[in-house]
Amino acid sequence: MLGALKPQPADKILQLIGQFRADPRDGKIDLGVGVYRDAEGRTPIMRAVHEAERRLWQSETTKTYTGLAGEPAFHAAMAGLILGDGVQAERIAAAATPGGTGAIRQALDLVRLAAPGAEVWVSDPTWPNHLSILTWLGIPTRAYRYFDHATGGVDFAAMTEDLAAVRAGDVVLLHGCCHNPTGANLSLPQWAEVASLLAEAGAVPLVDLAYQGFGDGLEADAAGTRLLAARLPEVLIAASCSKNFGIYRERTGILLALGDAARREVTQGTLATLNRVSYSFPPDHGARLVTTILCDPVLRADWQDELETVRAGMLDLREALAHELRRLAGSDRFGFLAQHRGMFSRLGATPEQVEALRRDHGIYMVGDSRFNVAGLNRATVPVLARAIIDVGI
Ligand code: LMR
Repeated sequence: MLGALKPQPADKILQLIGQFRADPRDGKIDLGVGVYRDAEGRTPIMRAVHEAERRLWQSETTKTYTGLAGEPAFHAAMAGLILGDGVQAERIAAAATPGGTGAIRQALDLVRLAAPGAEVWVSDPTWPNHLSILTWLGIPTRAYRYFDHATGGVDFAAMTEDLAAVRAGDVVLLHGCCHNPTGANLSLPQWAEVASLLAEAGAVPLVDLAYQGFGDGLEADAAGTRLLAARLPEVLIAASCSKNFGIYRERTGILLALGDAARREVTQGTLATLNRVSYSFPPDHGARLVTTILCDPVLRADWQDELETVRAGMLDLREALAHELRRLAGSDRFGFLAQHRGMFSRLGATPEQVEALRRDHGIYMVGDSRFNVAGLNRATVPVLARAIIDVGI
């Protein structure tokens, strides 16, 4: 049986981790996978997470199974974080999932079950694993234009032109904030236009919210998602706690399915069944940490403070890189790097230039020239800027 297996294509992002580790050069710089690093290159455990872990360790009395869809307290805390108080609880079905990727996978499984003929529209470009999961599930997929290579911003005219072809029942995958891989994001008026477009077409948005708090702040980063939730009858949201709580390996995420209150029970039961047939119970430890933090005002304030420091640090690095490139290039052609938000920016380099950065400078980024801003620090910003000019970008 196993002899029938064919080699699977490697994930372009995860592949870089191995290549970077195998590189013996001192001074190599990892700007690949989306993991936050501080100025010393560490991915620290956040203070509030440490404290929540200590409390849990002292108070937890059992490791027996939790709810099949996770704990209601986690659902409520996350729904509050993402949606504020603008959505009636009766409209929200929820399931804890293994990370944000688990939520995307469950959301797409739900789409396949509920709307077998639906096409899922994804931005061009999008996170490569969106495409891998869609292909794996055999879901018909269409791309809508998104990124304007000339300006480094969103090509909104092209995006809306493509989305005009969306049919009733189709699903449109949107990045709630901090678009991965480009770093270019919709403004709130543009979110409103997208909401109108989808409402008119009768399409359902699926929002991937993996970086809330990494762009313009916790509230601002959720604003587009909240607008969709207020204006559309049905919205799917796949959220991750990996980045904003820094609990990558705890695999903590949530799928929210907003719909008609009268249908909530059936939707909730379906989410629980999807968990059951995939992995039974979702991971609980990270979800419990998040719930502890969000439900304790002191811990929550401390978490927000630390998250804000992380966010401000990334913005500083963006400014510093754009400034250094302005100095070296003698032009503002990299100014978009300071406008982008979140962990990533797409530099606009060719695969050959990306390869030259790796080969000649020990700088690792994804082949489409996406780089992780949070992989930089004050010392490596000028090194990257110099290398960008050297390879002729
Ligand atoms: C990324 O895009 O680098 C992150 O979301 C990590 C991953 O799983 O790809």
